[in-house]
Formats: sequence, C-alpha cells, structure tokens
Amino acid sequence: MKTRKLEINYKEYSGMEELPAQDRALVEAARGAQRSSYAPYSHFNVGAAVLMENGEIVTGSNQENAASPSGLCAERTAMFAAGAKFPGVPMLCIAIVGGPDFGICDTPATPCGACRQVMAEYQKIGKKPMRVIMTGGKSVWVFDRVDDVLPFIFDSI
Ligand code: THU
Repeated sequence: MKTRKLEINYKEYSGMEELPAQDRALVEAARGAQRSSYAPYSHFNVGAAVLMENGEIVTGSNQENAASPSGLCAERTAMFAAGAKFPGVPMLCIAIVGGPDFGICDTPATPCGACRQVMAEYQKIGKKPMRVIMTGGKSVWVFDRVDDVLPFIFDSI
C-alpha cells in the first residue's frame, strides 16, 4: 500500500483588477450575466461567461425553480447555451461570479460537481484546455484546465 498525494496548482489574484485584460473582460461579462439570475429561493445570484475559440462570449445565470431539481446553475446554463449556439467550437475559458442578493462573496463561489462534469465533457470534445476563473471580491482563482477542478477526470485531453 502507498499513500499518494494529489497536487493542484492554481493562480490566486488579489482581486479582479489584477487579472490580465482578457480574463477581466470575461469576468465582467459574467458579472453582467449575474443581473439576469433568477434565484428567488436561495437568493444566491450567479453569473457565468464562456469564451469560445471563435472569440464569442456566451453568458448564463442560475435559474431556479419551485421544484428545485428543475433549476440550473449559471455555469451549465452558459455552457449549454454555448454548445447549442456554436456546436463543435472549443470553450477556452469559463468565468464565474456569485454572491447573495446580487453581490460578490469575498471568497470565490465554486462550481458544483455536476457543472464540473459538464466542463469536462466540453473540454474533451473541444480538445483544448478549458480554463476556469472563480471570482471573489477579495481573491480570484484561475485554473489552467478542468482537470484541476475535477480530480480523476474522465478522458483527460
Ligand atoms: N449556483 C450556481 O449557479 N453556480 C455556482 O457555482 C454555485 C451555486 C447556484 C445554484 C443555486 O441556484 C444557488 O446558486 C444556490 O446554490
């Protein structure tokens, strides 16, 4: 028997102002999308923005439902819209912003397991690493590929 260690590397910025311009633009698109969040049950509003290889940005926000499993997270709303609008175009990066009552948490909001699995699928079919930006008010985390947010991912590229 061996005890093994798994290491995940990511970058931490002290705020969105410190991000490189292209990443900041994507975070701003996610922040804009947060305004369309429909979250009357949790009051936790999330926006997401996907940068496509063709330069397009596709956004989404969480959409809740009285029958809770029928709602959807911001990330999957954005990725499914991107997949539907630009089939086959690789998704290069997804930015996420969230917080209570349309605000932003100090520490980044992190995607649920189902959203990470959907990221894995689109990274696989796009055959390009999909970067993940989790934005908080006081720190921003940047991961180079979905593998870094979903250990033991199926079909790593
Ligand atoms: N939510 C997202 O849309 N994305 C995240 O990364 C975290 C959580 C949503 C799901 C639900 O509508 C609400 O936030 C509370 O969990």
